[in-house]
Amino acid sequence: MIKISTSILNSKNRIESIEKLNNTNSNYIHIDVMDNIFVPNYQLPINEVNELAKHSKKLFDIHLMVENPEEYINNLNFNNIYNISFHIEINKNIKNLIKLIKDKEFNVGLAIKPNTKIELIDKYLDDVDMILIMSVEPGFGGQKFLENTIDRIKYVRNKKPDILIEVDGGINIDTIDKIKYITDIAVVGSYITNNDNYQKAINNLKN
Ligand code: DX5
Ligand code: ZN
Repeated sequence: MIKISTSILNSKNRIESIEKLNNTNSNYIHIDVMDNIFVPNYQLPINEVNELAKHSKKLFDIHLMVENPEEYINNLNFNNIYNISFHIEINKNIKNLIKLIKDKEFNVGLAIKPNTKIELIDKYLDDVDMILIMSVEPGFGGQKFLENTIDRIKYVRNKKPDILIEVDGGINIDTIDKIKYITDIAVVGSYITNNDNYQKAINNLKN
């Protein structure tokens, strides 16, 4: 069954959202970190992430949309982390960053934007645990799911059948069926956090 990682990016009160999610069967809590350089938005500074972790009974699924992941990875001060993903598009040594995360014993995800050539992931497939396929342009919640995502999921699945695939952006009750059986983890933000009953929204997606 598809796993759900709930993004609290667009939630009005993040601590309250985390406390509500603790009582649901959301598999993970997705934490979007943006530096206003890699994407035109600044969200969830690392001290806020460290603070939020104190309230969570769920593992964090951390999505770094930043030019310098190392600075962020080294400043996380908690361990309930399922994985840390960073973007293949940054101008940094990707293999060194993969090693940095592995040395901390977290799963490693490599994230890719919708218009980046998917073949670029090929040479890292044996080094990472997960590919995070963006189904919207990163930066903001509440955008429309991009249809070319389906072919990109299939490409990764064919290249490496047992790698974890996470899809992020624009997933809701109208789009989940497109990815449900070919994706391991769906990141869902506004569809869940705009709903008064988080568990009901999650059930609608999983069923
Ligand atoms: C976008 C973020 C997503 C976003 C998902 O840059 O990476 O995680 O918050 O939110 P929705 O589900 O509203 O598209
Ligand atoms: Zn994200």
